[in-house]
Amino acid sequence: MPTILVMHGPNLNTLGTREPAIYGSMTLEQIHAQLQTRAQAAGASLSFFQSNYEGALIDYIQQHASQAQGIIINPGALTHYSIALRDALAAAKLPTIEVHLSNIYAREEFRHHSVIAAICRGQLAGFGWRGYLLALDGLLELLREGNT
Ligand code: DQA
Repeated sequence: MPTILVMHGPNLNTLGTREPAIYGSMTLEQIHAQLQTRAQAAGASLSFFQSNYEGALIDYIQQHASQAQGIIINPGALTHYSIALRDALAAAKLPTIEVHLSNIYAREEFRHHSVIAAICRGQLAGFGWRGYLLALDGLLELLREGNT
């Protein structure tokens, strides 16, 4: 059974009340419940982690990557500047899918660049909470095919 790390960066713990016009009204717990249902049906195991701290996210990757087969991550604002998070993900050598609730390319210019994307297997942006489910479906399919 594949284990997937589902990770979220700064401010994503406030989903539901944080700028709902941009990020939607689902809470992180509700998104996790949807993912859990989908993962159970697909025979996958998920490990969830959110932190507002860059170093905590890096520690989590370092401690858990060796027991996982893939990573789904919404790095939040760290997307745009955290070389340290990128390096941790690259070192993990796992197929990684970057998820953004909003379409970062249709927003402020500073959100248009991701320092994470180039070391990811794929990226989803603009699908709201559905992006996480699409990422899970896609990642599990790639793992099944051995196409990572
Ligand atoms: C985000 C987009 C980022 O630019 C922002 O800093 C976030 C959320 C998204 O999911 O759309 O915190 O990653």
